[in-house]
Order: sequence, then C-alpha cells, then structure tokens
Amino acid sequence: MKAAMKQAGRQTGAFSEEERRGVYRAIYERRDVRSHFLPDEVSDDVLNRIMDAAHHAPSVGFMQPWDFILIREASVRRAVHCNFESASRRAAQSYQGEQRALYDSLKLAGILEAPVNICVTCDHYRAKGSGLGRQTDPAVALYSTVCAVQNLWLAARAESLGVGWVSILDMDELKTILGIPPALSIVAYLCIGNVSEFNSQPDLEAKGWETRSTLESVTHLDRWQGA
Ligand SMILES: Cc1cc2nc3c(=O)[nH]c(=O)nc-3n(C[C@H](O)[C@H](O)[C@H](O)COP(=O)(O)O)c2cc1C
Repeated sequence: MKAAMKQAGRQTGAFSEEERRGVYRAIYERRDVRSHFLPDEVSDDVLNRIMDAAHHAPSVGFMQPWDFILIREASVRRAVHCNFESASRRAAQSYQGEQRALYDSLKLAGILEAPVNICVTCDHYRAKGSGLGRQTDPAVALYSTVCAVQNLWLAARAESLGVGWVSILDMDELKTILGIPPALSIVAYLCIGNVSEFNSQPDLEAKGWETRSTLESVTHLDRWQGA
C-alpha cells in the first residue's frame, strides 16, 4: 500500500479528496445549536465516539487536563436551567433600548430540550505530563481543554448531532449543582442532541446581533499592524 502511494506520488497518510472535503464541511457547517433539538435519545455508541474524539485533542505536555460530566437526568438539567435563567436576566441588564429588546428575543441555551448535556472541566494541577510546557503560561491547560471541546463539536457535526455551548451561567453555583471540586475550572457546558435541521448561518448573525469579520481584518504580516 505504502509503496503504491509512493509510486503514485502521494504522501503516506494523506487524506483522499473526499476525506479532505469532509473535514472542511464539518468546520464550515458546524453550528452552535440552541433550537431544533429533537427529544430522541443519543445512542451510547455515538456519544462515546464524540467523547473519544474530544479525548484525542492535543494537550500541553500530553496532560489531558479535561473531565466530562455526562448529564441526562432531567432534575439536574432543570437546576442548571434555573441557573442559566437568572444569569441571563443579570446579563440582560447591561443592554439598553433596541439591543436589550434583541437580547431578550435571543434563544441562548437548549439545556432542557437537548437530551444530553456535558460539562467539561479543566484540572490545572493534574500531574500527568509533569508540567511540560506549562511553566511559562499556566493558561495552557485551559487552552488544551478548549481543544477537546472543539474536537467534540466537530465530531458531533459529522455525526449530525447539534451542540450548543452555554456560558451564561454562575459557575460557582454550577459547581455546587454538579459537585465539582472548587480547584477545577468549568470550561464548557454543552447541550447535545439530534436536531431537525442545522442553520446555514450563526443564529446571532441571522438575528442581526453580530456579523462575521473578514479574515483580512484579523491577519497581520510580520508584525502587529494597528488600525
Ligand atoms: C466560549 C463560548 C461560549 C459561548 N456561549 C454561548 C452561550 O452562552 N449561549 C449561546 O447561545 N451561544 C454561546 N456560544 C456560541 C456562539 O454564540 C457562537 O459560536 C457564535 O455566535 C458563532 O456561531 P456558530 O458557532 O454557529 O458558528 C458560545 C461559544 C463559545 C466559543
């Protein structure tokens, strides 16, 4: 096989054209999903695949600082939903006039509608990796955990599962609800489920809250170029 690939001028391990397209499709068609969740259960097999994709994310020093709390129990999700509602009411107060009205019209979480929620935490003190790569920047454990979330999000899109990230939460209260040790950081609270459709553009863009900036506007050459 390897010899045949070499002869054909292809690098060992190269993706086929179809595989390459699949990766980009998952990236461009991934959406943050808050609506359109279906009540059907997510099979353990699929859930296991997307969590294993998360567990194969890069991590500083191979530390793998993440843990995943899988939440299916309705009473737990109800408690988290109450937390979200009060946090969102508080957040709403920082907007006025038309922007406040628009904020109030946004759907910003699907905690109760999504049959599965996953809370992803980061353990900054995990001994695994013996501190390699962490001496200069303690935030890298968090960055590693975010990589795991993104892996899960993309794998879920490839499995046609919707994922919505909820950050409008009182994190201390969430730790109490889920029994998370105080020293851990909560990185993400995710709502996951089968969906009836994926929107083609971000919800916040469709509702007129924000638009995507151009790649050019965030690209610098050799040195930072101010506006
Ligand atoms: C760290 C993080 C926190 C987020 N928190 C929320 C949230 O609390 N509620 C919400 O509706 N969307 C949340 N989002 C989703 C963003 O609004 C969404 O990614 C953005 O609007 C772009 O849309 P897209 O993900 O569909 O491309 C969050 C995304 C990230 C990365």
